[in-house]
Amino acid sequence: MEAITSNSLSSLLLFFFLVLCFSAGALTSADSTSSAPDDFIHASCGATRYPAICVECLKSYAPTVHRSPRQLALAALAVTADRARSASTFVSGLTPGTKPARSREAGAVQDCVETMQDSVDRLRQSVREMNRMGRAQSSRFTWHLDNVQTWVSAALTDVNTCLDSLAQNGSGRVRTAIRNKVVEVSQLTSNALALVNRLDPRN
Ligand SMILES: *[C@@H]1O[C@H](CO)[C@@H](O)[C@H](O)[C@H]1NC(C)=O
Repeated sequence: MEAITSNSLSSLLLFFFLVLCFSAGALTSADSTSSAPDDFIHASCGATRYPAICVECLKSYAPTVHRSPRQLALAALAVTADRARSASTFVSGLTPGTKPARSREAGAVQDCVETMQDSVDRLRQSVREMNRMGRAQSSRFTWHLDNVQTWVSAALTDVNTCLDSLAQNGSGRVRTAIRNKVVEVSQLTSNALALVNRLDPRN
């Protein structure tokens, strides 16, 4: 366990609300009944590649995010790390049953076990780095931002490597089960990267 600092308190608060982020499959049915999302989150999510899941997973953070692009990026990373961990746990649990079946499929599942674990590490590392950034425009800020951009990009590559491996060598129910969870993580990671990139003063 990490020591609790005042800086990491905000990310702890963010984790508290994670239960309110629905899966992509629930989006269409949940959308019509949900309350109007915060304008800032709505507008920021408009700049991401998957705006619907972005709003759905981040609107409950409106009270902690206010109008802070940095808090929004942090929330996006925290949600993504949590969903990646959940997907990683799911894939790891599948391994024993699938391994003896078909070697190519077992290889695809094993690829996913490894890449999803790696993505969780990189996303968690990014959340910690976000809490160390300091003031915008300082050289320290851009150094930490560079690290976050590098690690989130690598996490996205990891997740997409799992999907490629499944597409080529997975089959049937195992492929469908893993894919459903990992596609969501891929979309959330892409969105988190877009929200992180918006913090870059060099853009
Ligand atoms: C699919 O399996 C083959 C044989 O094990 C392997 O050479 C190939 O790299 C795999 N494809 C992907 C995308 O991982």
